[in-house]
Amino acid sequence: MTIQPYGGVLVDRVAGAAEADSLRGAAAEMPRLQISEWTLSDLYLIAVGGLSPLEGFMGREAYESVVEHMRLPNGLPWSIPVVLPATDDEAAALSVGQQAALYAPDGELAAVIDVAEVFDRERAREAENVFRTTDDAHPGVAAMYRMGGKCVGGAIHYVYGKDITGFPAENLKPAETRAAFAAKGWETVVAFQTRNPIHRAHEYIQKCALETVDGLLVHPLVGETKSDDIPADVRMACYHVLLDGYYPVDRVMLSVLPAAMRYAGPREAIFHSIMRRNYGCSHFIVGRDHAGVGDYYGTYDAQKIFDEIDLDALGIEPMKFEHSFYCLRTKQMATAKTSPASLEERVFLSGTKVREMLSRGESPPEEFTRPEIAAILMKSYQARG
Ligand code: ADX
Repeated sequence: MTIQPYGGVLVDRVAGAAEADSLRGAAAEMPRLQISEWTLSDLYLIAVGGLSPLEGFMGREAYESVVEHMRLPNGLPWSIPVVLPATDDEAAALSVGQQAALYAPDGELAAVIDVAEVFDRERAREAENVFRTTDDAHPGVAAMYRMGGKCVGGAIHYVYGKDITGFPAENLKPAETRAAFAAKGWETVVAFQTRNPIHRAHEYIQKCALETVDGLLVHPLVGETKSDDIPADVRMACYHVLLDGYYPVDRVMLSVLPAAMRYAGPREAIFHSIMRRNYGCSHFIVGRDHAGVGDYYGTYDAQKIFDEIDLDALGIEPMKFEHSFYCLRTKQMATAKTSPASLEERVFLSGTKVREMLSRGESPPEEFTRPEIAAILMKSYQARG
């Protein structure tokens, strides 16, 4: 059973060599837009099909439909707007019906867009609906407010030749993860999203999931994250060590997701699952406060939101897990569903608490993280002073 891409067809907007050459030649005459790392990651994901069925940045109809109704105009569930932001000045230089050149932060041509429309971003409404808060202390809301207030909709032609992740060997495109799953004979694959080192709670829920499916795709997000999150290179070192020592090699794959982190909690959980469907996964892990930040979302809001959408249309099954902890009584990882112990015998540690311990020079305990991972994290914190 192959998992169909979202919308039925895996989008491919990467220009072939001849098209890319001619676009590079023509770009000099086009109006130009300077894009951020964030937008470059969206652009890349559209190009390689991670955001299928999107073939470009959303126009007004799709934007409004997503913000208001959590659906694309064709009815498919979709929770996060994918837009090309522009300042008023940049937008004024564009002509609808013409092309524009998008330049990456390093100055190279990243893509050409067929400008279909330019519209105002309704930031307050987007913040309220997508992030459930207009508080600009929320990192996703703050990031949106830093972007230009116009959006440019239209199909894209991707020409950027360089790796955007820092991990080219581990950056499999959706077509490549799909081929890898087929080669391994995996019919059911559960994806694990993370922006943290993998701690024992993560390991526990992954392995619970792995008991019921053929394979596990550890799929860390390596696009933009907030500055106090652990950097992707340190996390990647942790993932490799962990997978080598503690996982069944023939049932696990590691590959990166070059997306920017929105911290939109429930809405982002749906968005994350759609991308993983495009990468060929049948199941998606949603644990405690998925993609959350601070106290903006309830512990299980990101699970409950799946009850509001058409799961058949979504086409990837959320696997929901309760808050896991180390149970001192049974000396193993557990949740309230499996532990007989009282609250005092449950060791709960969050990524935030661990970051605090690390900055005080304390090594996180073995109940929380495997010692090899604690050692890598300690070393990285010491190196950063
Ligand atoms: S996230 O922003 O990518 O969601 P994180 O990397 O911490 O953050 O979480 C990865 C996944 O593990 C998410 O699905 C999250 O809900 C889940 N998770 C994290 N910690 C726990 C825990 N202690 N118990 C259960 N699920 C957890």
